[in-house]
Amino acid sequence: MTNCANIAAADVLPTIAALRQEVAQLREAVQARDEFISVAAHELRNPLTPLLMTVQSMCRATERHAGTPEPIVSGLARMDRVVQHYVKRCDAMLDISRLSSGTFRVEWAETDIAGLLRGVVEGLKPYAERAGTAIDLAAPDTLAGTYDELAVQQIAENLVSNAVKYGAKTPVIVSLREEQDMVALDVRDGGIGISAADQARIFSPFERAVSRQQQPGFGLGLWVVGRLAAAMGGTVQVSSDLGQGSTFSVRLPRYRGAIPA
Ligand SMILES: Nc1ncnc2c1ncn2[C@@H]1O[C@H](COP(=O)(O)OP(=O)(O)O)[C@@H](O)[C@H]1O
Ligand SMILES: [Mg+2]
Repeated sequence: MTNCANIAAADVLPTIAALRQEVAQLREAVQARDEFISVAAHELRNPLTPLLMTVQSMCRATERHAGTPEPIVSGLARMDRVVQHYVKRCDAMLDISRLSSGTFRVEWAETDIAGLLRGVVEGLKPYAERAGTAIDLAAPDTLAGTYDELAVQQIAENLVSNAVKYGAKTPVIVSLREEQDMVALDVRDGGIGISAADQARIFSPFERAVSRQQQPGFGLGLWVVGRLAAAMGGTVQVSSDLGQGSTFSVRLPRYRGAIPA
């Protein structure tokens, strides 16, 4: 009996040691990947500030000179939009790296969240039109609170663009309202829906309920949404049935009282 136990332990020990070594190597590989993403995001982001400033000052110069040929005016406006878009992507990449390394810091600011949401919805309308979808927003004219503006923007952009992407051309209904000392943001679509099993995993990084062939994506958007909402003391939930559409509900405290002077 004792012999058997000893033989079994002797057999297993090298396997455990090998597994330990493999886990350590995998940890190192994940850390190297995270560091690479962080460095790459910084490297891509850094030259963009002077580039954006140059494009914007050229845009202003063309406004001052009435005789600037139209192709130059419209070309510069397009460059301005493209560079701003690129800046946003780099910032989102930086946030992902900060969220995964735990170094993300909330930038509290007095914010009209209704105006902020209207801006996000307006910005996504051309994308929705191309996808054959309408976005409907029900929100008060203004709704004051303290939030991290970029975080709220990213949350709304991710949820609304998902609703367009997976909404199978059904209208996307976005609503914002006060609920006591919270603000409630709901994003609803009538699209492909999500099974109960998939609902349990889609908030984890790289988890998706569709294949890359069906819809491109990395499966990071909802993870970012969940992390950002939690960083502001809030929550995000989904309610959905396969083929019946989905509603994503974000709840955030309206006031955190943590604004630096
Ligand atoms: N509105 C939605 N309707 C149906 N499925 C959705 C919706 N939003 C998200 N999903 C599912 O959750 C997964 C994770 O979403 P997300 O993290 O935003 O990643 P991505 O959009 O890059 O796939 C998606 O791949 C999709 O399967
Ligand atoms: Mg997404």
